[in-house]
Amino acid sequence: MKYPLASCLFGVLLAVFMGPSAGAAEESPVSPDDLVYCTVCHGMQLRGNRNIEAPRLSEMDAWYIEQQLVAFKNGWRGTHPQDLIGMEMRPMAAALNDTQIKAAAKFAQASRAPVPAATVDGDADAGRTHYSTCAACHGVDASGNEALGAPPLAGLNDWYLVRQLENFRDGVRGSHPDDLYGAQMRASAALLPDDQAIRDVVAYITSLQTN
Ligand code: HEC
Ligand code: HEC
Repeated sequence: MKYPLASCLFGVLLAVFMGPSAGAAEESPVSPDDLVYCTVCHGMQLRGNRNIEAPRLSEMDAWYIEQQLVAFKNGWRGTHPQDLIGMEMRPMAAALNDTQIKAAAKFAQASRAPVPAATVDGDADAGRTHYSTCAACHGVDASGNEALGAPPLAGLNDWYLVRQLENFRDGVRGSHPDDLYGAQMRASAALLPDDQAIRDVVAYITSLQTN
């Protein structure tokens, strides 16, 4: 089997949601107890786990978590043939109903974990110049802009930021015809001229992380 971890967890997940609470799921929000399996990949308090390449979700805005769970569920993320890592996440989102998606988003926003350590070697000063175009949507302090659908970037793992910028650049993310937010971001990722520019802008974003 190609993705043994995802498949195995998917089984566990089905068991959880097909269990006794399934009938009541629409009325009562899912408690974090039912979402413990998210931490299997995303780590304790959703702090991120590089071994699985699952990013830190702690303290992220609920609206964005919701936006991404919908994106995975609708196949805007995690279906491109080269998106093997996104494919690990997609079945998890596909199994959630609307109530569960809202509960998962709240859970992520309420989780607390330390700011991730810097791992990417880049020139933050050079990155600051690149970031000036990003600030229009993500904010000067990288705290995000809900009206534009642009997430906070401060507080995410730097290795995850690098991979997503590569994904947007290479069309692995943001090229599904219905992925309007992703398409906007794709156009912006194309402004970063090379791998070094990606590392530099990420080093700058990491330098803004204060929470
Ligand atoms: C099998 C491991 C696994 C499990 C279990 C899992 N995830 Fe993920 N998740 C991932 C991986 C890997 C990624 C990174 C995908 C990528 O790089 O495109 C991810 C990405 C995400 C993202 C996108 C974050 C962003 O910044 O865009 C969200 C949101 C998310 N997961 C939420 C959840 C929630 C909520 C649960 C529990 C319902 C969950 N995940 C369970 C592996 C997992
Ligand atoms: C036109 C507005 C806009 C600009 C400019 C922009 N972004 Fe984005 N960005 C977005 C939107 C919208 C999303 C959410 C995409 C989605 O929902 O999948 C996003 C998503 C991202 C993500 C994915 C975060 C995650 O958690 O998965 C990264 C990383 C990112 N942007 C970095 C940048 C960088 C670096 C720049 C500057 C080079 C930039 N963005 C410029 C709108 C923009």
